Amino acid sequence: MSESMGEWRRSSLCGDVTEEMIGLELTLMGWCHKQRDLGGVLFMTLRDIAGEVQLVVDGDSPDEVREKAKTVRGEYVLACRGTLRRRAAINPEMKTGLVELHAQELRILSPSETPPIYIEEDIDVNESVRLKYRFLDLRRPDMQRKMLARHRITRITREYFDKEGFIDVETPTLIKSTPEGARDYLVPSRVFPGKFFALPQSPQLFKQLLMLAGYNKYMQIARCYRDEDLRADRQPEFTQVDIEMAFVGEDDVMAANEGYLAALMREFKGIEIDRPIRRITWREAMRRYGTDKPDLRYGMELIDLSDLVADGAFKVFAEAVEAGGMVAAIAVPGGSDMSRRELDDLATYVKGNTRAKGLAWLSLSDGASRGSVARFFDADFVREALKRAGEEESAQLLIVSDADQMTVLEALGDLRIEMAKRRGLIPEGRFEFCWVTEFPLLEWSEDDGRYVAKHHPFTAPMDEDIAMLDTNPGEVRARAYDIVLNGTELGGGSIRIHQQDLQQRMFRLLGFSDEQAQRQFGFLLSAFRYGVPPHGGLAYGLDRIVMLLTGEESIREVIAFPKVQNSSCLMTEAPDVVADHQLEELGLAIVSGSHTVGESSEG
Ligand code: AMO
Ligand code: AMP
Repeated sequence: MSESMGEWRRSSLCGDVTEEMIGLELTLMGWCHKQRDLGGVLFMTLRDIAGEVQLVVDGDSPDEVREKAKTVRGEYVLACRGTLRRRAAINPEMKTGLVELHAQELRILSPSETPPIYIEEDIDVNESVRLKYRFLDLRRPDMQRKMLARHRITRITREYFDKEGFIDVETPTLIKSTPEGARDYLVPSRVFPGKFFALPQSPQLFKQLLMLAGYNKYMQIARCYRDEDLRADRQPEFTQVDIEMAFVGEDDVMAANEGYLAALMREFKGIEIDRPIRRITWREAMRRYGTDKPDLRYGMELIDLSDLVADGAFKVFAEAVEAGGMVAAIAVPGGSDMSRRELDDLATYVKGNTRAKGLAWLSLSDGASRGSVARFFDADFVREALKRAGEEESAQLLIVSDADQMTVLEALGDLRIEMAKRRGLIPEGRFEFCWVTEFPLLEWSEDDGRYVAKHHPFTAPMDEDIAMLDTNPGEVRARAYDIVLNGTELGGGSIRIHQQDLQQRMFRLLGFSDEQAQRQFGFLLSAFRYGVPPHGGLAYGLDRIVMLLTGEESIREVIAFPKVQNSSCLMTEAPDVVADHQLEELGLAIVSGSHTVGESSEG
């Protein structure tokens, strides 16, 4: 059934055929996209990565070509020779819509069964079917465009950093486990039974050692692995654009990266971004947006109402303030038309999706206060609150109170995004970048009963806060910064600790004994004895960059072969059991979970 390509070679890609080629003998190859048999005349479209072109088999084509063409089905791989001619009926939808290839010779290079998914733009099928047959899904033109977009973004990235003097160095992926916050993927060692490599969560320590080794500016497009719960913007293996620079402070790292982001937006999107990119401290981001990754494409900033309700008649609010908590709100523009049902539904949303225990609402209706707590707050109160929010009288106040301030801020931050989505307040085609700075250095972990590093243990504290390391560690700010685009954390980094004593102090603060620190990070502490330049850097999630710049909502759409929610691959069915002898070699035995495949089925 399959014919050989022989010495035939393509004259051009299908989608690259142009009007100028009219009259030429061409050889084209590709996948049969559609075929239409109109009795005497048979039309087919031939598709490849560059696009489609029409083939015509008619009475002037040889008999054997006509017979063969009748057997062709969708997704057959064809090679066709003929003359390019002007089309009678021009198709303005098609890039090659002015021309068609009149078939003189036809070879079926490979037949195809009926594919389980349509090879079309924007098909409406379950994602799991697309992922099981990813090789077919990737053949669809919109997926091919996303993969090409990713390729272009990667190229722009490499070119920019190369031009700026960054050196691309590859770092290992079989490493010693280093803590970066998530769980490690482990690889057992055959040579040292009972010992494990870890896959890197990032090249963090290696890039710092490269600074110490004098490489000045480093960049790598690096694969990273984290065994964590997946979300739309998280995969167990993902790609970082990882950079590090020596003899720098925050401003230098930020400036270099603004240059990169500007080049990327200019070359990929044709957009000039405003520079310098605005900066907002972590504290201010939490206070105004209830998140450390604010979406600045719309307003609806949080307003604090604590002072207005502290002595009020509504006990829930007064007591929250009394307990050191807060009462705050967002004002939804034009939201006073929201129905009771919508509002009840929002209260359920808040209770189900945030740590807040309730939601109250207030608006003005014919000059009177209306809402779940209207009994306690009159129209003057509503007007005052709306004034604080800078909103018109037609806005709806959504209020949260709690004895824990962070609970209030985070709940309203979540609600702000939800309301922007529900009420269509997010403008299309806008790209709002911001830096978030002055993150807390440490975070209290209830699970561990100790402080953990918010970024990672190598992040430097702000000089003016170092004195608080022993007295009030929770208040110490880090020399860390995140770059945020449209409410997504694109990247994060910091100025690093480069003093051995400070690094040791940090490990102690994080609960490592000196022996533990020595065992886990001995190589770093030892390296720090040999001349360390002050240094800092940053890493972007490349998948997230591509997702946002292509307008996608999940990074799975821009990764050729992604994993699903439970971190498995539907196409290859990895992870999988292994043969008994493989486990034996590694000195491993399975105590729970699936069994091995046994010796017989070993491939
Ligand atoms: P961080 O942990 O913030 O920093 O990671 C940097 C960026 O990588 C992306 N990212 C992810 N993308 C997809 N799936 C994931 N599971 C995932 N986890 C992280 C995010 C994030 O902003 N070594 C430091 C960087 C530094 O300090 O220089 C680091 O890895 O876009
Ligand atoms: P009640 O007087 O208990 O009927 O409560 C009046 C309103 O206050 C209801 O709409 C509650 O949802 C709201 N409310 C209760 N607890 C909170 C809270 N923690 N934050 C905001 N509103 C609340």
